[in-house]
Amino acid sequence: MCGIVGILGREPVARHIVESLKRLEYRGYDSAGVATLEGGVITRRRAEGKLRNLEARLAEAPLAGLAGIGHTRWATHGKPTEVNAHPHASDGLAVVHNGIIENFRELRAELTAKGQTFTTETDTEVVAHLVGDFLRQGLSPREAVAATLPRLKGAFALAFLFEGHDDLLIGARQGAPLAVGHGEGEMYLGSDALALAPFTDTITYLEDGDWVALTRDSAEFRDVAGRLANRPRIKTQASAFLVDKGNHRHFMAKEIHEQPEVVGRTLAHYLDMSAGRVRLPFDLPVDPAAIDRISIVACGTAYLAGLTAKYWLERFARLPVEIDVASEFRYREAPMSRDGLTVVISQSGETADTLASLRYAKGQGQKTLAVVNVATSTIARECDVVAPTLAGPEIGVASTKAFTCQLAVLASLAIAIGRGRGAIAPETEARLVGDLIGVPGLMAEAMKRESQIASLSHHLSRASDVLYLGRGTAFPLALEGALKLKEISYIHAEGYAAGELKHGPIALIDENMPVIVIAPSDQWLEKTVSNVQEVAARGGRIVLIGDRKAADEAAVTLDGFVAMPDMAPEFAPMVYAVPVQMLAYHTAVTMGKDVDQPRNLAKSVTVE
Ligand code: F6R
Repeated sequence: MCGIVGILGREPVARHIVESLKRLEYRGYDSAGVATLEGGVITRRRAEGKLRNLEARLAEAPLAGLAGIGHTRWATHGKPTEVNAHPHASDGLAVVHNGIIENFRELRAELTAKGQTFTTETDTEVVAHLVGDFLRQGLSPREAVAATLPRLKGAFALAFLFEGHDDLLIGARQGAPLAVGHGEGEMYLGSDALALAPFTDTITYLEDGDWVALTRDSAEFRDVAGRLANRPRIKTQASAFLVDKGNHRHFMAKEIHEQPEVVGRTLAHYLDMSAGRVRLPFDLPVDPAAIDRISIVACGTAYLAGLTAKYWLERFARLPVEIDVASEFRYREAPMSRDGLTVVISQSGETADTLASLRYAKGQGQKTLAVVNVATSTIARECDVVAPTLAGPEIGVASTKAFTCQLAVLASLAIAIGRGRGAIAPETEARLVGDLIGVPGLMAEAMKRESQIASLSHHLSRASDVLYLGRGTAFPLALEGALKLKEISYIHAEGYAAGELKHGPIALIDENMPVIVIAPSDQWLEKTVSNVQEVAARGGRIVLIGDRKAADEAAVTLDGFVAMPDMAPEFAPMVYAVPVQMLAYHTAVTMGKDVDQPRNLAKSVTVE
């Protein structure tokens, strides 16, 4: 979601702030702004839309200050207009904000009653006025922030700049991430280490409830109770990573193509390939033989990885699995046994609903394991055990390589838990591990269908609705296919369990409705084929993603056939994800959509 950058520098900082904001573009935003202190006075430039609009403003009217804050805003309260864009400046200070101030209405009413005037529709403006109110009462900037924070409810990160204080930047964190970058006679604030990577590789993460007062050569951290706090400095890897698309047109294309490599890397972390066994790089926080169910909680694509894992865990480990989307789970008051296992899945490790679910499960006495891609994220820090996905930074808003790496981790976990429960024999484990080892090669093979998929996407781009069908582990992938297509092409799409077709959706089938059928050769193939015939009988336009056997058995006229390599069925979703992602990608590209930053979407959803 929103991105925050702050710099106390030794030369004009506006250009560096914008460069750093570009590294946060992937999070999704719809306006941007920067403010600096020039001769002790706050001056700002803001613009609707992309950072290039802000750059144009800055080119016309440069900012010369050596201290500044910048922001990319993903609108929550109020339209993405210039007026609503951050930084908000009033009362001798400027503030940028990520997240939501939940009690902004009551604060706004209170401040209006005191005579304050509001000029924006945002929740953020109350923060500026609240701090300003304390400054007017004679408090120092530090004291004013300290007095303001306890008044704010919600999940947020904030950065402040104060007129007349050229050597001061204050940051605060409650729920949304914020990091301090330590430089040589310079200091930085940023939403993540990636944003700060061009300046420094020495980072301190604020803990929840912390705030920090920065000068060019000091960083004073305070905890939620206002006590001085020691927070460790860590070296990050982020600087090694170049935010670059390589030879690809979009990050999403690059990330789809990286999958054989990153899935291979992730599997190598979890498998003892020569012994044909899973070797988890951590101890499970529970005895698998002693638990009677697993709860899985996640959002979006990560949830669909979890839904696939439900099939694997029930089959390989003979363990019941409950799975829920985090936004429902966190408020459902689900009774949970003490010492059971909750698995949360998150690429960013910052998704607000998933984090709240993790905390709920911990509060119920559950042991928690988090499958996360960002090792320094809040979820990674708060869970009992981290199961890392080694996908590398995922920049495209639509999750691709993180999804298949999540599947790689969850498949390994299911086998390990199955072994721990005595539910699978060593020969079965060796066979399954052998199948997993083959997955990256099969993904690379599936990539070869790209030009054919690109031509199929021309048909798809003219549709107004698309149906995806699958059974067994192809069902979550059907849901994922529909999610991918709608989020980047804006074509309405639905995923269904193929067997549900005649319980309603079959009514939609006509000659205008493309139906994407995901049909690996597994134990459900025969049944999926019957559903294909039902669609064909009603004139539906079928695109079959399957192997030669599936095409032969379907024995109907197909609008398109994506020929997949032969493979053992268990882990087919990891391989079949490739054409599913490519179909969405090429359809969106054909339609001229902004694939990496689709409208209204954010990469890291740090608000509910
Ligand atoms: C879809 C997508 C989202 C995320 C969801 C959870 O392509 O990317 O549905 O999967 O917002 O995000 P994380 O995994 O960061 O918790």
